Amino acid sequence: MAYYRCAMMEVETKFRVLSENLSLEDDRNPIEAIKTRMKSPESIVKKLKLRGFPLTVESIEENLNDVAGVRVICGFPSDIYRLAEAFLRQDDVTLIVKKDYIANPKRNGYRSLHLIVTVPIYLHDEKRMMRVEVQFRTIAMDWWASLEHQIRYKKDVEISVDTAKELRDCAEQASILDYRMEEIYKAVRIPN
Ligand code: GTP
Ligand code: MG
Repeated sequence: MAYYRCAMMEVETKFRVLSENLSLEDDRNPIEAIKTRMKSPESIVKKLKLRGFPLTVESIEENLNDVAGVRVICGFPSDIYRLAEAFLRQDDVTLIVKKDYIANPKRNGYRSLHLIVTVPIYLHDEKRMMRVEVQFRTIAMDWWASLEHQIRYKKDVEISVDTAKELRDCAEQASILDYRMEEIYKAVRIPN
């Protein structure tokens, strides 16, 4: 867990550096917030059991991508891609999996850009490559996902077809607003 925590700190620092750098360059900060979380040992055991994997350290490293998680909340949708590109260009960051739920939202309406990467951590006697899950969301995507999570994600509550449709519709409305705000921003701040 300590190694994963170090990797999470490495990734968090990378985004703090990008945040400093881009806010000087643009006069606005594309990063609204950075959140980190470690998967609890209970959730790790639960997920391994559920997927039929052995309960060993090797199995965690091989089978779980989300022991260490970093969430980057941005202002506009375009900030997400700009930051993800800047992050992936760094030569110690290796992309393992990319899931673009913004271009291809989940059926329930969930939107976010997910990257599974490895980053090195430097211990006193060795270098280890550790996996970290990075989720990029706009404030609106995060708002929807946080509330939807409270309402139902991974809970055993049954949701009616109408409620599911209502939730998906809220996600679509939020997405429309995201792009409208981005258009306003471009019109005001980016001269022709
Ligand atoms: P998990 O086993 O849940 O980690 O899913 P996965 O391995 O298929 O990965 P995926 O990229 O789909 O989801 C990873 C993480 O994204 C989840 O742990 C959540 O934090 C978030 N997420 C994915 N889908 C949803 C969703 O429908 N609603 C919300 N609120 N969060 C989601
Ligand atoms: Mg997960």
